[in-house]
Amino acid sequence: MAERRRGRKREHYYRMAKRAGYRARSAFKLKQLNRRYKLIRRGDVVVDLGAAPGGWLQVAREEVGEKGFVLGVDLQGIAKLPYENVKTLVADITDASTPELLGNNLPRAADVVLSDVSPKISGVWSVDHARSVELARTALTIAERMLAPSGRSLIKVFQGEYFEDFVSKIREKFEFVKISKPPASRKGSAEAYAIAKGFKRF
Ligand SMILES: C[S@@+](CC[C@H](N)C(=O)[O-])C[C@H]1O[C@@H](n2cnc3c(N)ncnc32)[C@H](O)[C@@H]1O
Repeated sequence: MAERRRGRKREHYYRMAKRAGYRARSAFKLKQLNRRYKLIRRGDVVVDLGAAPGGWLQVAREEVGEKGFVLGVDLQGIAKLPYENVKTLVADITDASTPELLGNNLPRAADVVLSDVSPKISGVWSVDHARSVELARTALTIAERMLAPSGRSLIKVFQGEYFEDFVSKIREKFEFVKISKPPASRKGSAEAYAIAKGFKRF
């Protein structure tokens, strides 16, 4: 029964994404979180980690408008989006040279760093959780390098044993942190999103 409901919800967002021309259902997660927390504003410079196939890039571009700039990075190539101010790179966020590569492709310090990075799912829960937290920590480190003072961030992380430790790390760096699960996220899934505002750049 619950499985059928989940299937219907997936199908619902799949259809909505198709109708709206979004490349991924996950676009609605960002739209819902952004509506609630006002993370992305007109003219912002946004970095999107784990951006393939590009649903979040499309939503971020809608929000920043013509004057902003969006940079996406992923292990996989991303088909070109029809906007001059959206750029994509193929890179591994855990690679030591990636922060510099990102920095070299930005017009100025970022206002927002997003991360929807997910590990390749092994099916062994403890392993997938630990990998997700490791990737979320990497995303936080990159956000610290890229963000302007008072910048904002949105980082996906799977809930579990190391979740609270990650949340306390992000709380040290931002004035405001909230954990949220948007309606478009499956109820049974362990994913949650850390919304962080007011980056404390020392
Ligand atoms: C859920 S998908 C992102 C969907 C995207 N937000 C969208 O709306 O289209 C997660 C992405 O994380 C990427 N990823 C996983 N590990 C990565 C890494 N170490 N560096 C860069 N990207 C990574 C995967 O290739 C995958 O495309």
